[in-house]
Amino acid sequence: MKHAHHHHRERRARVVAEMRAQTGGGLAAVPTAPEAIRNADTHYPYRPDSHFYYLSGFPEADAVMVLVAGREAGESRQVLFCRDKSPERETWDGFRYGPDAAREIFGFDEAYSIAELAGKLAEWSCDQPALYTPLGLYAGWDHAITATLNEVRNRVRTGIAAPETVIDVRSAIAAMRLVKDAGELGLMRRAAEISSSAHRRAMARAEPNWYEYQVEAELAHEFLRFGAQAVAYPSIVASGPNACVLHYRENNRQMQAGDLLLIDAGCEFQGYASDITRTFPIGGAFNGAQKAIYELVLAAQLACIDAVAPGKPFHDYHKVAERVLAQGLIDLKLCEGSLDAVLESGAYKQFYMHRAGHWLGLDVHDVGLYRIDGESRTLEPGMVLTVEPGCYIRPADNVPEEFWDIGVRIEDDVLVTAHGHENLTAATPKSVAEVEALCAR
Ligand code: GLY
Ligand code: MN
Ligand code: MN
Repeated sequence: MKHAHHHHRERRARVVAEMRAQTGGGLAAVPTAPEAIRNADTHYPYRPDSHFYYLSGFPEADAVMVLVAGREAGESRQVLFCRDKSPERETWDGFRYGPDAAREIFGFDEAYSIAELAGKLAEWSCDQPALYTPLGLYAGWDHAITATLNEVRNRVRTGIAAPETVIDVRSAIAAMRLVKDAGELGLMRRAAEISSSAHRRAMARAEPNWYEYQVEAELAHEFLRFGAQAVAYPSIVASGPNACVLHYRENNRQMQAGDLLLIDAGCEFQGYASDITRTFPIGGAFNGAQKAIYELVLAAQLACIDAVAPGKPFHDYHKVAERVLAQGLIDLKLCEGSLDAVLESGAYKQFYMHRAGHWLGLDVHDVGLYRIDGESRTLEPGMVLTVEPGCYIRPADNVPEEFWDIGVRIEDDVLVTAHGHENLTAATPKSVAEVEALCAR
């Protein structure tokens, strides 16, 4: 049976195989995210849980996926619980699949009304060796799982045993999500392309006296017109001193000619994130100090990208960033001493205080372990990570005034390939010449 969602079915089968390997079978229950109220009776735009969505592709709230893994291959069932069809609710809130269509379209063996979840979950949990579910993710779900376990425990006198072991199913799913398949990479490429286009538009249009939110509007325009209806995280549009605030979100300062503008923005396309940062001069040209810092961060970023290849430890490229930035800061007399001394003392952290990047996927800070048994994870083809060194200089006694308030970050999304890497966001200008040419327009 092949249908549009066979890859989701195959992902679920891999979870079942993992459950068999770990505990000789069991029951997995994965809820999607609850809806969230913004104020009064208004909700935030709905976004499914990433683990749930990875395994199901199912977009509606009030849904739970259950996998029953028997001891033997072939003895397993993939089940979806979801909202019922409802002519009245659909008139107000829009289309719902309902269990029958959902089963067919999303490739489940069985589907039921979400109203049947509690009863069936208790029934199917009896005598299972383990229950695989996320705990500590959604308070409502924690409560539902505790209630289910207690209900099964109450049946002990009828000879039934509750699962002895509760395992966080997120570890198994996260390990799968870390290495992207061809379908996922197609979506990530598209997300990267759209975001790249948005950064080019912002660079070409931003001008002195604009407010930061006007630039944010240019980004949003480009995301939406290409069908990316959400941002992967709130866009950071940080001019002048705001560039030194790592998670700046106000986006309401009026920009002046001569400011640097740091934009960290990426769309989400069909669930997949992109994450790009560019920094450019408002008014068209970097001044001397800005250019010195920019060239330093760019050199670090290019060296970091070169350090991305299969077989290398994840943390290598962070060490590259530290070395290049520390040496540059010494050359600019912003740090004192030998390279080894500055790396050892961490003096460079006054200006570079974050990591060089993170996994990227359905979540902007995607799942997947960075270390295993204390050792840095080895990069493999299909992993996607960001490369984003930066330099942020707040006013301070030990810094010449010409450098004050300069904040620069350059961030690309990089795929680990069989032989090296591919920069998915390479279409976003970043050399001084390219950036100045686009800004001057
Ligand atoms: N935009 C979030 C980050 O760069 O990690
Ligand atoms: Mn970013
Ligand atoms: Mn990032």
